[in-house]
Amino acid sequence: MKLQNGQVAVVTGAASGIGFALAEALGGRGLTVVLADVETDALEAARAALAGRGIVVHAHVCDVADAAAVDDFAQAVIARCGKVDLLINNAGVGGRLGPLWDSQPGDWAWTFGVNVFGVAHGVRSFLPAMLQRRTGHVVNVASLAGLTAPPFLGPYVASKHAVVSLSETLAAELAMAGSPIRVSVVCPGHVQSRIADSDRNRPAALATESRTAPEVLARIRAGFAAALGEPMAPADLANRVLTGIEQDEFLILTHPTLNGQVQARLATVDRAMRNTA
Ligand SMILES: NC(=O)c1ccc[n+]([C@@H]2O[C@H](COP(=O)([O-])OP(=O)(O)OC[C@H]3O[C@@H](n4cnc5c(N)ncnc54)[C@H](O)[C@@H]3O)[C@@H](O)[C@H]2O)c1
Repeated sequence: MKLQNGQVAVVTGAASGIGFALAEALGGRGLTVVLADVETDALEAARAALAGRGIVVHAHVCDVADAAAVDDFAQAVIARCGKVDLLINNAGVGGRLGPLWDSQPGDWAWTFGVNVFGVAHGVRSFLPAMLQRRTGHVVNVASLAGLTAPPFLGPYVASKHAVVSLSETLAAELAMAGSPIRVSVVCPGHVQSRIADSDRNRPAALATESRTAPEVLARIRAGFAAALGEPMAPADLANRVLTGIEQDEFLILTHPTLNGQVQARLATVDRAMRNTA
């Protein structure tokens, strides 16, 4: 979809990191941006920063894990802006590092609530009006962890695989319905943001304690940090995503040096298929 003046873009999780950079880049291209986030003060700071740059910006406090709250958010956006051209389901949380056998029900509920249900709610609440107008683009922010399976972030990795698969489903269903609405799923590697501090937004009812020995956790953390490498600047990621939207790319990959990780996984599938011959 060509991005232009007068369009309306909704970005969830827009108070920080990737979401803020996307909102800033879209606003810089003349779009009206509607920011949603669960973190009230950071959201207001983000709104004020963009407004200060002359961007037409609105902000809504919204917990994307809450279906009714996302419905209310969608209604408020339509009431205020009249339409949505671009929906970016970006809000996400990182979860807690540790082996899968130490993932507690609260870890699964929180991670899937935000990362998977948040996307599903966004699609359910915003798509009907977009379908009626027969125009628009949906972007779901997954992760390279949606195409690979790095250890020690089990619920997060599973949630991002879910985001990739539901994006594929959505794209197929829109095509079968003859809708011109396009879908993109973004699968970045490491990007500078506050994702490592995601617990700041975890509801108290879903708080968990690790049962893994502290020295084992310290080794896991050190290995994880070493594997991440240098983070990409969020503004660079945002520019890459905007190009992907304009070129109607379904799968937007952003870290070419990490493509080998995806190839290794595909090679495993390929070997398994050859074993069936
Ligand atoms: N930073 C990375 O290295 C990286 C890599 C791949 C994918 N991602 C994905 O990018 C997206 C953005 O994360 P980020 O890295 O910018 O982290 P971030 O923590 O800087 O930003 C995430 C934003 O989402 C908001 N948020 C959290 N829970 C929410 C909820 N329930 N409802 C609404 N908003 C909520 C936070 O308040 C925050 O403003 C996530 O989906 C994340 O999984 C990040």
